[in-house]
Amino acid sequence: EKGGWSSFMRKEVSEQPEAVANTLRGRVVDGRVAIPELESFGDEELRGIRRITVIACGTAAYAGMVAKYAIEQWARVPVEVELSHEFRYREPVLDDGTLVVSISQSGETMDTLMAVKYAREMGARTISICNTQGATIPRESDAVVYTHAGPEVAVASTKAFVAQIAALYLFGLHLARVRGTLDDAALAENLAELQAVPEKLSTVLEQAERVEQLAHWMADTRSVLFLGRHVGYPIALEGALKLKELAYIHAEGFAAGELKHGPIALIEPGQPVFVVVPSPRGSANLHPKVVSNIQEIRARGARVIAIAEAGDAAVLPFADEVLRIPLAAPLFEPLLAVVPLQVFAMELAQAKGLDVDQPRNLAKSVTVE
Ligand code: M6R
Repeated sequence: EKGGWSSFMRKEVSEQPEAVANTLRGRVVDGRVAIPELESFGDEELRGIRRITVIACGTAAYAGMVAKYAIEQWARVPVEVELSHEFRYREPVLDDGTLVVSISQSGETMDTLMAVKYAREMGARTISICNTQGATIPRESDAVVYTHAGPEVAVASTKAFVAQIAALYLFGLHLARVRGTLDDAALAENLAELQAVPEKLSTVLEQAERVEQLAHWMADTRSVLFLGRHVGYPIALEGALKLKELAYIHAEGFAAGELKHGPIALIEPGQPVFVVVPSPRGSANLHPKVVSNIQEIRARGARVIAIAEAGDAAVLPFADEVLRIPLAAPLFEPLLAVVPLQVFAMELAQAKGLDVDQPRNLAKSVTVE
């Protein structure tokens, strides 16, 4: 039930703080990750994993891409993320040192299901990250970590996405403890960051009106580009996907570092570009690189909408609009930065008079190939 909201999507966007809170609830005990569902994966087995392959489609695949950065950094295991439909037809190399993690809100996506079955046949162990109790993919997997985002009705995935990242982060931190790659202090710090996400999501949602205004101004836009780097890169892809599926606007997401390898040729006066700006506090020092990307596209006439953390003044001289997200450790920023992009796509679709819950040509769950 919509419960007074004008659309399921609007309701689900607003439910993101609780979607993450519910996914974390009961799973952090005495400063440790506790995931009873993973009991069949003993510590010995988790220590023996040589590689993780994440399989998913659409928004779920972008959640996997975000988690790749975190899991590799924390647990020092190589993680690859692959679209299920590509994975299952290329005879992937899998062995008993490969853990296959599938991500699916519905748990019914045909390509992801077939990819999981294939992985099991090849001897890999499988974990499903799923939002739907008792769905087919979890039943076909060795274990399931449910996201507790609650039912997601709108075709565009929003609260399931942030809940997927939260579940994957819990898993990553669990793995890091078992494998001894993070010490207690680092574990506690990251768990505290994770637990602070719901409240920060509420803060980001308070800005929705500003984003709505922006979407109204841009209702006639024909093309929008999205740039991001590191964990901001999958967020750029997700921002573009949301805009395509909801507002039927041509949109593309790029890794900011790719600009000079082609995409900058697209920039002409007036071209709107959303830029997910990494934190100036990030250890890899990516912030100045992205600020210089902003300068480069601005010099060619781009209209820049920056998504930057509170207090980051470096973007101010170059951006036409700045949308703020609260301070968070760099790996946790994507959970916040995605929200203005979801709201933008939803509001723009609404401004165009489109059905935001049921965009044309799309189904909530793709149960055919
Ligand atoms: O149910 P699933 O998570 O397996 O669905 C995967 C994609 O079909 C889904 O995320 C799709 O891309 C959404 N419409 C995006 O908003």
